[in-house]
Amino acid sequence: MKRNFDTIFDRTNTSAVKWDCVEEVFGDSEVLPMWIADMDFPVAPEIIEGVRRRLEHPIFGYTKPWESVIDSVVERVKRKYGWDIRPEWVVFTPGVVPAISTALKAITHPGDQVVLQGPVYYPFWKAIKENGCHIENNKLKFSNGKYVMDYKDLEDKFKPKKLLFTEPSGVKAAILCNPHNPVGRMWSREEQEKFGEIVLKYGGIVISDEIHSEIVLSNKKHIPFASISREFEQNSITCYSPSKTFNLAGLSVSSIIIPDEKLRNEFIRAAGHTLGKVSVLSLVALESAYRYGDEWLSDLLEYLKENLEFLLKYFEEKIPEVKPIKPEGTYLVWLDFRKLGLNGKELSEFLVKKAKIGLDDGYLFGPSGEGFARLNIACPRSILKEGLKRIEKAVRDFIR
Ligand SMILES: Cc1ncc(COP(=O)(O)O)c(C=O)c1O
Repeated sequence: MKRNFDTIFDRTNTSAVKWDCVEEVFGDSEVLPMWIADMDFPVAPEIIEGVRRRLEHPIFGYTKPWESVIDSVVERVKRKYGWDIRPEWVVFTPGVVPAISTALKAITHPGDQVVLQGPVYYPFWKAIKENGCHIENNKLKFSNGKYVMDYKDLEDKFKPKKLLFTEPSGVKAAILCNPHNPVGRMWSREEQEKFGEIVLKYGGIVISDEIHSEIVLSNKKHIPFASISREFEQNSITCYSPSKTFNLAGLSVSSIIIPDEKLRNEFIRAAGHTLGKVSVLSLVALESAYRYGDEWLSDLLEYLKENLEFLLKYFEEKIPEVKPIKPEGTYLVWLDFRKLGLNGKELSEFLVKKAKIGLDDGYLFGPSGEGFARLNIACPRSILKEGLKRIEKAVRDFIR
């Protein structure tokens, strides 16, 4: 039976950041939240069932990831992407952001440089800075409504550099976001090959954040960076998690694939006491999702695709001044508001005060995000419709 994702579940008073922090984040309790990347949908019943079964045993002591939970990751990566990974390559962490920070700690020293590709998920910027490294922004190029990589600029980033007060010690890592949050690109094999060849030529490690890899809204296939060649495999750290695909962000669990033994040991050393702190219930949820969640996921993807079509048509017919960038993957839509001529702060105020809608401000994703905002379509269609209506009314009033 096909699942219906139209039902609205009231998430207020559940400590949901998206709904219960609206006043705190936007300064106005009437704002409709369509920002942070989780879904307003209940999880697959198979996950609830798995957790319920574990709850029948009333002791929740220190827990080691068991064989079948590790195998569920290995089997999923093989089944979904045809990439053969070994059980010993899998390291569980309480999230992808902590894992990226740990990876940077393992790979870099303060004063090193790290490449990212703005506009990109804002915690990447923070993680690099917090590790004492310099950010090298290999800005994505935006031409004819499509984002592409700039390989010439990427190569330039690896050339020795002198800053006013410091002399950075070289690029040690590059963070790839695939599918890319917020622009929704799923990087092709050729694009990743060119990217990887440049990074590896200069001895860099690729941290490939593939957390959105199962939210595919196009006919593209997700290609893990590390699956492209043995050299890429040995010089990369790949981050997966069921949190986006199965809406488990509050359970804090992710699986990090590190094929190279030395790199893996450095990662484990850098993680220190934070490793081994993944909760038993989170691991049960991960295994239930990976083993039994595919039917639910297939219905979800259908619903998300319909939401996307609904949104694209709505903008085209009713708000042509705002251009959505059609995502190939992720349930996040990058909206181009530049025609309104507002700067980042003004656009932010316009959305909150005039449209009463809570989106992620584009400039948070880097300087080239100014004039854009990110909208989350993982919600019942009636909520999406209400959000679009609010944007439409505000834009009409603005240009009148
Ligand atoms: C690209 C990307 N990486 C990581 C995360 C967050 O990962 P976690 O909650 O596992 O730390 C998100 C959440 O939106 C994301 O979009």
